[in-house]
Amino acid sequence: MLAEVVGFNGDRAFLMPTGELHGLSSGARVVPRPAPLLPPRWGVENHPWRRSEDRGLHLPMGDGLLGRVIDSHGQPLDRLGPLQHTREEPMVRRPINAMDRDPIRTPLDTGVRAINALLTVGRGQRLGLFAGTGVGKSVLLGMMARYTRADVIVVGLIGERGREVKEFIEDILGEEGRARSVVVAAPADAPPLMRMQGATYATAIAEHFRDRGLHVLLLMDSLTRYAMAQREIALAIGEPPATKGYPPSCFAKLPQLVERSGNGLNGVGSITAFYTVLSEGDDPQDPIADAARGILDGHIVLSRELAEGGHYPAIDVERSVSRVMTAVAAREHLVAARRMRQLLAKVNKARDLIQIGAYQPGHDAELDVAVRMQPQMNALLQQDMHDAAALDTSRAQLVHLMNQT
Ligand SMILES: Nc1ncnc2c1ncn2[C@@H]1O[C@H](COP(=O)(O)OP(=O)(O)O)[C@@H](O)[C@H]1O
Ligand SMILES: [Mg+2]
Repeated sequence: MLAEVVGFNGDRAFLMPTGELHGLSSGARVVPRPAPLLPPRWGVENHPWRRSEDRGLHLPMGDGLLGRVIDSHGQPLDRLGPLQHTREEPMVRRPINAMDRDPIRTPLDTGVRAINALLTVGRGQRLGLFAGTGVGKSVLLGMMARYTRADVIVVGLIGERGREVKEFIEDILGEEGRARSVVVAAPADAPPLMRMQGATYATAIAEHFRDRGLHVLLLMDSLTRYAMAQREIALAIGEPPATKGYPPSCFAKLPQLVERSGNGLNGVGSITAFYTVLSEGDDPQDPIADAARGILDGHIVLSRELAEGGHYPAIDVERSVSRVMTAVAAREHLVAARRMRQLLAKVNKARDLIQIGAYQPGHDAELDVAVRMQPQMNALLQQDMHDAAALDTSRAQLVHLMNQT
C-alpha cells in the first residue's frame, strides 16, 4: 500500500494512503521508498530519478491522452485499452515568472453568446464559474468544451459523484467534445490525495500542451472540492481550522493551482481556465468563493432564480464580470455592453413595480427603453445548449440591439 508524507510533527511523519485502506493491521511495517510516490506498476529500479527535476511524481503525458478518460494515476477509465503515445513526465514544473508571461490581449470565442457579448473572455484568462448545484454548471462547461476555439481541452472532474462523471462525458461532452479533450476524473469516493492529484495532473497536462505552443482550455470542476480535499488532509494531520473549518493551507493551495494556468512565455501557447466554485444559497461568506474571487481574473455567476425560470444559460450578468474585457474588446463593443448592463440593471431594479402592475410608462424614459428592450435582451442572453454562437455574431447582435436604444 502506498502512502505519501503529508506533514511532520517533531520527529514524526504523518502518512496518508493514496488508495483504499484494506487489510492493514496495527504493527504493519512502514518502508520508505527512495523515489516518492509512484503507482505500483512502476518499479523504482528503472525509474530515472537521479536528476533532481526527475524526482517526484511522473505521470503519462502526450498526444495519446487525447480522447481519453483517465484517473489521477494516469490509468485509463474508458475501457479503450492502455494509453498509446504517451511518456512519463514530472508533475512538478517550474512556474512561469509573472513578468515573463504574455499579457492577455486576444479575445477567445467561447461559443456562448452571453459570455461572448457581455463577459468577453481573453486567451489566457482564468475565470470562476460560481453557482449552487443543479443550475447548469456542467452543461455550460460542456458547451464551452464543444464550441470554444481551442486546440486542446483538458477537463478535471474533481470530487464529483461517479454517476455525474459518466453523464458529463457521455451526454454533455459528446463525441464532438471528446475527440480533442483529455478528461481526468477523481470522483468523490477517491481518497483526498487522489482528488488533489487529479487537479494537479489536469493542470500539468494543460501545461504540457501549452508548452508545445497550443491553445488550451482547462475546465476544472470543481475548485471547491479541491479545497475540501485539502481540508480533509490538513485536518487529519492536526492543522487547526481557521475560516469556517478550512485550515490556512487550503487558502495557500488555491493560488498555487490557479497560477499555473494562463499565457505561456513570449506568446507561445496559452491556458484559458474555468474553475467552478460551489456557492450554495448565495452565501457571500463562503471562504473558498471569497478566496477564489480574489485570485481569478473574473467570475461568472449562475443564478438559481434564472434557472428555475427556464432562462439558460442562467448567467446573472449583473453580478458577473470579466476583468480583461476592456483589454480584448473593441470600443464599440464595450460601449454596447455597458449600455446593456445599464438597461438590465434598470429593469431589474424596477422588477417589483412591474410585477405588481405599478409601472407606468412615461415617467422615466430610460426605464421605458429598458422595459421595451427586455424581451430582445433576454433572447440575446438565452441559448440552447445544442447551438453555438460565434464571437463575431454575438458582438454584432449586441451592437445592433443597443443601436435601437
Ligand atoms: N443550457 C441549458 N439548456 C437547457 N437546460 C439546461 C441548460 N443548462 C442546464 N439545464 C438543465 O439544468 C439541469 C442541471 O444542469 P447541470 O449542468 O447538471 O447542473 P450543475 O452541474 O450545476 O449541477 C440539466 O439537467 C438541464 O435539465
Ligand atoms: Mg455538475
